[in-house]
Amino acid sequence: MPAAASGDPDGRVLAPFGRRRGEVVANEPSGRYRIISAVDASGPMPAAGQFYMLAAAERWGGDGGRPFLPRAFSVAAAERSDDGARLSFLLEDVGPGTGRLAELGAGEGLMLTGPLGRPFSPPRDLNPAAAGAILVGGGVGLAPLAIWRRALAARGVPERTLLGFRDREHAGGHELFRCSEVRVASEDGHAGHRGYVTDLLERMLGGDSAATAVVYACGPPAMLEAVRLLCAELEVAAELAMEAPMACGFGACFGCAVPLAAGGYMRLCVDGPVVNAADVETALVAGAGRR
Ligand SMILES: Cc1cc2nc3c(=O)[nH]c(=O)nc-3n(C[C@H](O)[C@H](O)[C@H](O)COP(=O)(O)OP(=O)(O)OC[C@H]3O[C@@H](n4cnc5c(N)ncnc54)[C@H](O)[C@@H]3O)c2cc1C
Ligand code: FES
Repeated sequence: MPAAASGDPDGRVLAPFGRRRGEVVANEPSGRYRIISAVDASGPMPAAGQFYMLAAAERWGGDGGRPFLPRAFSVAAAERSDDGARLSFLLEDVGPGTGRLAELGAGEGLMLTGPLGRPFSPPRDLNPAAAGAILVGGGVGLAPLAIWRRALAARGVPERTLLGFRDREHAGGHELFRCSEVRVASEDGHAGHRGYVTDLLERMLGGDSAATAVVYACGPPAMLEAVRLLCAELEVAAELAMEAPMACGFGACFGCAVPLAAGGYMRLCVDGPVVNAADVETALVAGAGRR
């Protein structure tokens, strides 16, 4: 059985010391992405918005035998099972590490460190007048919003979800949102509104009272920056699940430094990856490669 969740005041679940070997139980295509599920026999259940550092247990390295660093992935779903916590990750194959993880088969080992980082905050913590939540996802960035949507639904919090994709080649993960009202935008017009997901958000915030809205967003830096600016202009409370290059995932390397609006930096792996949009100077983080 999974260990009981231990936490700290901002709702994060603390990772057990060291990394553990999980077992891959499924690896399915989802549009152009893959959903990889693994059983974590001894780790705690994560909170929505947290992430894991993942590595394949075997053949995790380059041609010269040099090992890769583990890679960061948001947990997209977590369910209790008799064998432990069944964790699912939505993965886009963009390079050697994601390429190796994308080919893992059932029964293979997945090395896990986590859950790590700060999770999403309940809407009323961000805006006492909150009437519900608006989730805004871009591309593979929809992953942490899928587990957050389920957590909100379990607490009876109304939510609306807006998903944006660049084109058919960069789309998938819809099934993680089953039973949910989802509006879609695509830049090439292959699904839903032709244009940006932020067009849908702007329309929604225009139709609602911005005073009762709370926005949660995850996606490519340009999308997150557009959400940040829109929410700042309309004075809407918002949290962003951000990415930055991460070498360790637990505060040791400073590779993930993000500039703060008040000056100075935060380490995104321990002070994020979920941040209050008002706290960061920009969501355009250097090295957070995808557009
Ligand atoms: C907190 C966090 C959560 C993440 N969650 C997910 C997720 O749920 N699903 C998913 O598919 N990916 C996620 N990522 C991104 C993922 O970690 C990178 O895509 C991965 O490290 C790339 O490794 P690679 O060896 O395949 O490619 P690399 O050779 O390392 O990089 C290939 C390409 O990806 C870009 N890239 C590398 N690291 C990142 C990064 N951190 N963010 C954005 N672009 C990057 C590079 O600029 C390059 O263009 C997350 C990253 C962070 C920091
Ligand atoms: S990834 Fe090492 S300090 Fe954040």
